[in-house]
Amino acid sequence: MAASDCQPLVMPRHIIQEGNEAPDGRRTAPAALRNTAPLIEALRARLPSEGRVLEVASGTGQHAAAFAAAFPALSWMPSDVDPGQRESITAWRRESGLRNLAEPLDLDIATPWPVAPEAVQAVLTINLLHLIPELFVSRLFEEARAVLSDGGRMIVYGPFLRGSSYASDGDRAFDASLRARDPMIGYKSVETVSDIALETGLIPIATDAMPANNLLLTFAHQ
Ligand SMILES: C[S@@+](CC[C@H](N)C(=O)[O-])C[C@H]1O[C@@H](n2cnc3c(N)ncnc32)[C@H](O)[C@@H]1O
Repeated sequence: MAASDCQPLVMPRHIIQEGNEAPDGRRTAPAALRNTAPLIEALRARLPSEGRVLEVASGTGQHAAAFAAAFPALSWMPSDVDPGQRESITAWRRESGLRNLAEPLDLDIATPWPVAPEAVQAVLTINLLHLIPELFVSRLFEEARAVLSDGGRMIVYGPFLRGSSYASDGDRAFDASLRARDPMIGYKSVETVSDIALETGLIPIATDAMPANNLLLTFAHQ
């Protein structure tokens, strides 16, 4: 199937996200608890100083609430394909009271996005690329480019191969476990993602090393 066929991407529930849920509906995921502070620090150098940020596959919404609080000059637009995750994002939004945090969009990376062309200054996605087939990475970058304004940034975070090398034995084992569940998914190399970005007109401009061997990759719409 070609990504351009615009079929919804149905991800098995067990790899969507694990976590806890508070009585008010706010979910928390352990990985997001760990990486929020380092992400905020790294994003300070990569996000635009003002404008709209579309967060794709926001998950629980804890990132969205923390990022909207950390970057008050940005309007944060969270999204997720999963209705349960969107309810959690809404609960985080309600609890935060933040005026720069929007209601979550129902956005499936594999189908046309409910966002106007050139409407946002940054697109951010965290811990998604290793969970989707490569064809959908292309789809993600194509849609991101369409919604970014001139000079906008596409920012992706997660675990990646460097060439054909894993950063650690733990990464090798995690990737093997993903591929055992679904041979179409798993780690992508930095080079593969950069090639896909270049094909869609997004230029690699920064690679930030993050805790746990993860990377934050930034691409510019020029
Ligand atoms: C591993 S979680 C990461 C969530 C969040 N970014 C974080 O780091 O905590 C992956 C997320 O991707 C979302 N997702 C799965 N398939 C998707 C799709 N086709 N389009 C958009 N989001 C999707 C899931 O619902 C889930 O919230």
